[in-house]
Amino acid sequence: MRQAGRYLPEYREIRTKVGSFLNLCLNSELAAEVTLQPIRRFGFDAAIVFSDILIIPYALGQKVEFVEGEGPNLQPIDNTEALNRLDARPAEIKLTPVYETIDRVVSALNGKVPLIGFCGAPYTVATYMVGGGASKDQAETRLWAYREPKEFGRLIDLLVETSARYLLGQVKAGASALQIFDSWAGSLPEDEFARWCIFPTKALVDRVRAEAPDVPIIGFPRGCGPLSRRYAEETGIDAIGCDQGLPLDWIKTHLQDLVTVQGNLDPVLLVAGGRRVDERVREILDALSPRPFVFNLGHGILPETPIAHVERLLSLVRGG
Ligand code: CP3
Repeated sequence: MRQAGRYLPEYREIRTKVGSFLNLCLNSELAAEVTLQPIRRFGFDAAIVFSDILIIPYALGQKVEFVEGEGPNLQPIDNTEALNRLDARPAEIKLTPVYETIDRVVSALNGKVPLIGFCGAPYTVATYMVGGGASKDQAETRLWAYREPKEFGRLIDLLVETSARYLLGQVKAGASALQIFDSWAGSLPEDEFARWCIFPTKALVDRVRAEAPDVPIIGFPRGCGPLSRRYAEETGIDAIGCDQGLPLDWIKTHLQDLVTVQGNLDPVLLVAGGRRVDERVREILDALSPRPFVFNLGHGILPETPIAHVERLLSLVRGG
């Protein structure tokens, strides 16, 4: 999950200096620095490269901005002409700063802590590209996919291809594991979930595996409930990120027999703190830690999270 960001004063300081969020992603010296900040402060077991899933639409030539206090803003791709304007040819050059960030971080970590590279899953990235930003129900994207599945499929195929090259570029630069974030997978019914989440993710995993067979791949199909089992069976991922909505018993019986699981403390509970966090961490560890398991949050850390709560969480997990 996200581990850098606005809950850290040292991040806010750098972020204020560079101004725009995208500039920070493209400045490999500073992006490396903010990648390392949470590792230095908390000693996490793995680092995740500081970038964003929306670097791919940027690399394809779509206009992407992060508006202060509002989140991402993109010029929507909602018709054939806009789709035809996307251009994958300069993508690898535009993504070079991320590879340089990885190179710097891997040197600094010196083999002591593994670095995770990542991308957004094709469907989730498409929801931002089509809707023009974060949307509450991804309705524009689903509508386009229902009305013109062939056209929408072209966008998904382009994202599979570009993301595969991007993930392989990250491995080449030194990433030891990869994560695919499908934050909006939960908005699709079963058949569409298979078509737009499972099949493209499988294609992406297959492409990466063909050239980097030993690099573990973590999938994070957020909000898709029992469909997570099918996702784990069919995509070929090695590990699955579980959101806080999945019951621990269900994860144990229906996912942990197939793949390594990671999760799933509610990030909002970490903001609240207190005894309920202690209880919940115990419940999660008791249910899942006897088998292949990575403790994590159910979604990204929130900017308002007190640092003391993160420290307390770490001592609970490490102590137990
Ligand atoms: O933790 C890390 O260091 C890894 C870097 C990382 C970021 N985004 C940095 C970021 C990762 C892995 C992501 C993934 C990401 N980005 C996802 C998938 C995971 C999830 O959270 O669902 C998604 C959907 C995005 C798109 C995105 N980026 C949104 C919706 C926003 C706005 C949210 C907000 O909190 O304002 C971002 C911005 C963003 N990406 C921030 C960070 C640290 C906050 C930027 C800031 O400093 O203002």
